[in-house]
Amino acid sequence: MNKIRDFHRESIENREEFWRREAERIHWDAPFDRVLDDSRPPFARWFVGGRTNLCYNAVDRWLPLYADRPALVWVSTEVDQERVYTRRQLYDEVNAVAAMLRGLGVGRGDRVLLYMPMVPEAVFAMLACARLGAVHSVVFGGFASVNLAQRIDDAAPKVVMSADGGSRAGKVQAYKPLLDKALDLCARPPEAVVILDRGLAPFEPVAGRDLDYAQLRRKHAGQEVPITWVESSEPSYVLYTSGTTGRPKGVQRDTGGYAVALAASMEYVFGGKPGDTYFCTSDIGWVVGHSYIVYGPLIGGQTSILYEGTPVRPDAGILWRLAEKHRAQVMFSSPTAVRVLKKFDTAFMRERDLSSLERLFLAGEPLDEPTARWLSEGLGKPVIDNYWQTESGWPILSAQPGVEHTPARLGSPSFPTYGYDVRVVSETTGEDLPAGQKGVVAIVPPLPPGAMSTIWGDDRRFVQTYFTSIPGRQYYSTFDWGRVDEDGYWFILGRTDDVINVAGHRLGTREIEESISTHAGVAECAVVGVADELKGQVATAFVVLKQAAQAQDADAARALEGDIMRVVEQQLGAVARPARIRFVGALPKTRSGKVLRRAIVAVCEKRDPGDLTTIEDPTALEQIKESLQ
Ligand code: PRX
Repeated sequence: MNKIRDFHRESIENREEFWRREAERIHWDAPFDRVLDDSRPPFARWFVGGRTNLCYNAVDRWLPLYADRPALVWVSTEVDQERVYTRRQLYDEVNAVAAMLRGLGVGRGDRVLLYMPMVPEAVFAMLACARLGAVHSVVFGGFASVNLAQRIDDAAPKVVMSADGGSRAGKVQAYKPLLDKALDLCARPPEAVVILDRGLAPFEPVAGRDLDYAQLRRKHAGQEVPITWVESSEPSYVLYTSGTTGRPKGVQRDTGGYAVALAASMEYVFGGKPGDTYFCTSDIGWVVGHSYIVYGPLIGGQTSILYEGTPVRPDAGILWRLAEKHRAQVMFSSPTAVRVLKKFDTAFMRERDLSSLERLFLAGEPLDEPTARWLSEGLGKPVIDNYWQTESGWPILSAQPGVEHTPARLGSPSFPTYGYDVRVVSETTGEDLPAGQKGVVAIVPPLPPGAMSTIWGDDRRFVQTYFTSIPGRQYYSTFDWGRVDEDGYWFILGRTDDVINVAGHRLGTREIEESISTHAGVAECAVVGVADELKGQVATAFVVLKQAAQAQDADAARALEGDIMRVVEQQLGAVARPARIRFVGALPKTRSGKVLRRAIVAVCEKRDPGDLTTIEDPTALEQIKESLQ
């Protein structure tokens, strides 16, 4: 493992030379003057003065080589459709959407919010924004009106693009009513709304505001929109993510650094090359979808598969059939998806010809050993656990087969990725901890190319949130616990904050609590993440009612539970709906009024709640215990 260590060391010690070399992977319209400007830590600007464009690097640049090869393959088992777009066709579609957005007044620096299901038009729209130098903000289709309204207000988009609906597991999900509700809630609604009508969920367009995608596309078909070259540090997108407050953070990504980081990762992390096929099962609403459905594979000259559907419909062989049919070299999925598949026979994968497949990557949540073993044995291929965040944009810890083949250690995402000066530090002193000890996973700035540049519109919050929690050091905190073993393998041991991870979806407990609290009957509540065999964690809510009598008998409690769940579902979306709501008379708190979440989680997971000397009312924890019975 010398090679990978040397490679990493070089990326930190000779940072500028390292990244100057990597920057050659992409096209620059004008060269950069400096590799790095970190004169204002913890802010970092990469490839200062260089002019480039994500859309050019993803689409135009590969036209001479791959005009007639598939660039985007869309498969929907929800609506039983498959469409293949060559690079040339992708170019045409992206230009048409860019022309329609330009016609609606969208230009450099303007925001466009996309609330779209997993359809190719969503990818065209992302790339069209990039082409125009506009900033997209994709909101996950599983989110609902309040989430959406918050994001619209924060990003202040000129245009919102959406669809009549999506479909999940064969059930139509209407997007338009949620969007309309969100726009009603908004302080700053956009000027125009473009709706892709898939014929799934009938709706009434709002006159003077709603425009039809198909009509606009027809009008603009055949137009070519010149690339808007932007300075490397200009934002390419904003992607909102949850933290400890009720207000989501707009993770802002640059342009040049991101393009270089993704291009390099396609080779070093994923072991791929131009012409390969890459199949990532994530969603475009999450960072994995941004980086490894859209930008990474396309910038790397690869074919990307965009899949609308679940891993088990029409049967548990669908992902493997797609990998076989499209001769994928790389697959990227989530531990939850694999745990779902684990309930089925491995014959589903063994029966397929997966000879093209080189390796499979999993990220987004802890990968448990039995799941990793089941998959790697069933596939007979390496399974690589990689650890990263919305903020980082690409893997922080991973095996890097494009650098060196290293043996996997189950339960470990292996080693720090080049460019990341990662440490395990003491929560109380900020000092580096020796091998074997658990501490906070922190990154010494500057963050590498491709990592977030700031929080949209709020530089102070960026510094305050990420760079002030490690004592005595201005380090970036990942808010994850970790440990390194004697051989240098890293282990991630859960969050240090109140963020939870349900089926790979990152959720803020505070946001769910705020939503529950809008229910008229609720006095206060606490939401915690409880270990779950399938989803990793599920949200459980403990609610104190204004009138305890409201949940006195089982029927009343069940009705109220349903009521509260509906509130969360309508405001935040089904992904955020707690698995259970329990009614208690009081929440366990410290004498200073802080809810003892760790103790609640311990009780839910039938573990020892630990030190309770600061608890104000010990019976409150008893009530939690009783409510679980
Ligand atoms: O807690 C870590 C967990 O997911 C968080 C980041 O989630 P998100 O911003 O949605 O980005 C996902 C990008 C893959 C992390 O702070 N997490 C992510 N990957 C792993 C993980 N936990 C354990 N092992 C992983 N491989």
